[in-house]
Amino acid sequence: MERIDKILTSLGYGSRKEVQSFIKRGHVSIDWIVTKDVKLKANHENIRFDGEMLDSYPLIIAMNKPANFVCSHNDSGKLIYSLLPQRWQQRNPKISTIGRLDSDTTGIILLTDDGELNHTLTSPKKHIKKIYKVTLAMPLNGNEVDIFASGGLMLRGEDKPCLSARLTVVDDFNVYLELIEGRYHQVKRMFGALGNKVVKLHREQFANIRADDLKEGEYRVISKEEILFI
Ligand code: URA
Repeated sequence: MERIDKILTSLGYGSRKEVQSFIKRGHVSIDWIVTKDVKLKANHENIRFDGEMLDSYPLIIAMNKPANFVCSHNDSGKLIYSLLPQRWQQRNPKISTIGRLDSDTTGIILLTDDGELNHTLTSPKKHIKKIYKVTLAMPLNGNEVDIFASGGLMLRGEDKPCLSARLTVVDDFNVYLELIEGRYHQVKRMFGALGNKVVKLHREQFANIRADDLKEGEYRVISKEEILFI
């Protein structure tokens, strides 16, 4: 059990002061009985705000990221978090993306305020699968499938080669690339290392989660159990 004002504040219902004022004005009930005692302790599932169950904690969100949104929390550009409801944006711990996509990359991205889950899903040891749809500036040479599969491709400034990656060719300019790691700008740098350039990048899949049913900027709440990554 935790203090109700603390629970509501961490879920973004308002600042501590605002939440205490909501409680004193009778917005909060425990087991359907309105309480005005800000110091009262309760369990999340027994608290209601204006008669409604509280937002769940933790939250895991699957979003179809639009282009021109950044995954960082402190950037002067448009933040991906601004696409979420205001209350979720005010959570503490904060909702963060699980890994990052570049501003110009679209597609599936998971977000959560569960630090442990975030850590697990970004751990290089877990080898989480990511599938990208890539459009290239120049036609393929023909050797890319083998080079990417070899596990020997070195990226500039790194001391370990990329792990073996599966490239599926659609046509000379369009491919699917399946990675089990997530280095900085990895897809763009892999093609850059072979003298090509990525002009469009869309992530189709993260672990087993896809965003085919979501329009750009749309999201859905998912459960931990939905994510199959072992
Ligand atoms: N690789 C990239 O180069 N960019 C992304 O956004 C994701 C993977």
